[in-house]
Amino acid sequence: MSIAKRVQELLAQMTLEEKVGQLQMLQGGGWHVPDHLREAIRAGRVGSVLNEVHVETVNELQRIAVQESRLGIPLLVGRDVIHGFKTVFPIPLGQAASWNPAVVERGARIAALEAASHGVNWTFAPMLDIGRDPRWGRVAEGYGEDPYLTSVMGAAAVRGFQGDKLDGLGSIAACAKHFAGYGASESGKDYNSTNIPENELRNVHLPPFAAAVDAGCATVMTSFSDIDGIPATANQFLLRQVLRGEWDFDGVVVSDWDSIRQLSVHGLTADNRESAREAALAGVDVEMASTTYAEHLASLVNDGKVAIETVDALVANILTLKFRLGLFESAETDAAAFPGIGIPAHLNAARTAATESLVLLKNAHGMLPLQAAHLKHVAVIGPLADEPFEQLGTWIFDGDANLSVPLLPALRARHPEIEFGYVRGLPTTRSQDRSGFDEAVALAERSDAVILMLGEEAILSGEAHCRADITLPGAQQALIEAVAATGKPVVLVLMAGRALALQSVVPHVHAMLYAWHPGCMGGPAITDVLFGHATPSGKLPVSLPRVIGQIPIYYGHKRTGKPATPDTIVRMEDIPARAEQLSIGNTSFHLDVHPSPLFPFGFGLSYTTFQYEQLALSARELRRDETLTVSFDLINAGARDATEVVQLYIHDPVASTTRPVRELKAFRRVALAAGEQRRISFTLTADDLAFYGRDRRRKAEAGQFHLWVGGNSDATLHHDFFLLD
Ligand code: BGC
Repeated sequence: MSIAKRVQELLAQMTLEEKVGQLQMLQGGGWHVPDHLREAIRAGRVGSVLNEVHVETVNELQRIAVQESRLGIPLLVGRDVIHGFKTVFPIPLGQAASWNPAVVERGARIAALEAASHGVNWTFAPMLDIGRDPRWGRVAEGYGEDPYLTSVMGAAAVRGFQGDKLDGLGSIAACAKHFAGYGASESGKDYNSTNIPENELRNVHLPPFAAAVDAGCATVMTSFSDIDGIPATANQFLLRQVLRGEWDFDGVVVSDWDSIRQLSVHGLTADNRESAREAALAGVDVEMASTTYAEHLASLVNDGKVAIETVDALVANILTLKFRLGLFESAETDAAAFPGIGIPAHLNAARTAATESLVLLKNAHGMLPLQAAHLKHVAVIGPLADEPFEQLGTWIFDGDANLSVPLLPALRARHPEIEFGYVRGLPTTRSQDRSGFDEAVALAERSDAVILMLGEEAILSGEAHCRADITLPGAQQALIEAVAATGKPVVLVLMAGRALALQSVVPHVHAMLYAWHPGCMGGPAITDVLFGHATPSGKLPVSLPRVIGQIPIYYGHKRTGKPATPDTIVRMEDIPARAEQLSIGNTSFHLDVHPSPLFPFGFGLSYTTFQYEQLALSARELRRDETLTVSFDLINAGARDATEVVQLYIHDPVASTTRPVRELKAFRRVALAAGEQRRISFTLTADDLAFYGRDRRRKAEAGQFHLWVGGNSDATLHHDFFLLD
């Protein structure tokens, strides 16, 4: 019998109370199943639980649901499995820096296998919010500033979590969140309002969600935030018109934690009853944590305020997912059927992910890789160098810090012939206590080189952990300057959950490696790159600002009517006293900082040099049914084998609505041996050029396009082509 038929048959047997029960998601109880939960499941008042990861308890809950409730409907068991379960991978922002969807897919697969072995059948990931404001703590959970990179990585995560089929071993339902626009929270403060015009919503914020739906993502979570005056959890335009209507999404929509009740806190509704009605009418299937549906939906139906057909449709979505997951066939979890937790294969994958996520930002005089043969004493300084927990990053409910290897022990294990002295320098990254500086400087002075490991602890990013000042916290800048003053070669390794503003840091260090929060194998991965056992290949998934006041700064900005040019930029110190203010000839820039970012999107150095040459297009003119082939030579001009992330950008210079100055349209990791040269090709179709224009429809507009290929978003190798009507 088809799933649709089974759903309809089951629905026909359900009372209104049982239907409303399916919509309720409640918090699990840990080792002990609380009586109220046991009773609620037995009575059919709960359709899903979250945050219950003890497999015996989950099995007990499922047994009650299947054997003791009237209709025997199994439970959805949800959990935030964001970047690993016990085996923790780099934060998603770090995974994005690998520009390797295979890394993301494998990480999600392993997370799903480990979580499923604990009875979890639904993860609240991937987070697909575009992160253009690094003050926002949740940029750590997403794939950066770019809609295309986020789309590719998000789809990969969905494939990894869900596997080939939802009822396969270790497949769990994915959840594209937070729909939509959450990343645009004003001033980078979590839960804040958003202001997103529809053109930007559709061209920037929605594409990753569309890509996830295309990849078969089983569920979508609403955002906490207010968007265009209607909080996302009640937003019929988003949930009904776009998601269900335009994209044909047939999965489950879940509220965020308590976000239905919060509709009245926003001021959209007067009370929980109105909130329940608004959310149901918008099509929110599952209510997470709050209980407005349980309290009011039945009476809203009885009073004719919500049609029973509306409730039936919500319930049908949930039942459909339960059938798709195979829960009606077997809801119990046999942990022994799974490959295991933290096994070598999982740790190796986490190490590869960490290695590929590392971005080399500076390498003056080829300081890196460190030459082990020439080093006897190396100073390791900083409060993050020996912290198994901190390198795991934000939102790792189940992460096992016992599996985590930080930098210091990894260095000592890999290079026992070198003496690695260690001084914390500061108690924490936030501390102003400089009493450890003398010891740090003394260690640096008697060493041949210094590895500084600084940044942010895990708790400084993530949900509700936003910062207004995104320079290095505490007295870290002073520690860097004190150590640098010794004149020793200094490499700075930065761990952070966001892009930091580093203008004042870079001049003081010889080399700088951005490590994000690299996960449990961060230490070995960083060691490999520092000593040249691996060559760095990560690229920035976000632009790094020079100073905070540049935020938001992202490569895909609009041109404006007065774009800055090198000859129009005026520096504050060059303005004469009592200068007359004129408007003529002015362009768009700040007086006190160069308009470019400190490091552009897509940037990352290697231990070799890559050259791009001989760009050629298969045609100057592209018809709508044709494919354009873009080819160029990539040359590894150095003496080391290495991997380059080649990137293709376009610009649509004249269109019915203004377009970003550059848009990423394709990328690929290419491994080349030292001295090797290879012809690389990408193909583009008219669909790759499409966007939502003035008529609010997605299509490619005929005319001229500019195209660039290169190793970052400032690529200069350039060609034009035309799309014909
Ligand atoms: C977050 C969601 C998360 C949920 C459950 C909320 O506070 O915004 O992303 O899935 O909690 O933990």
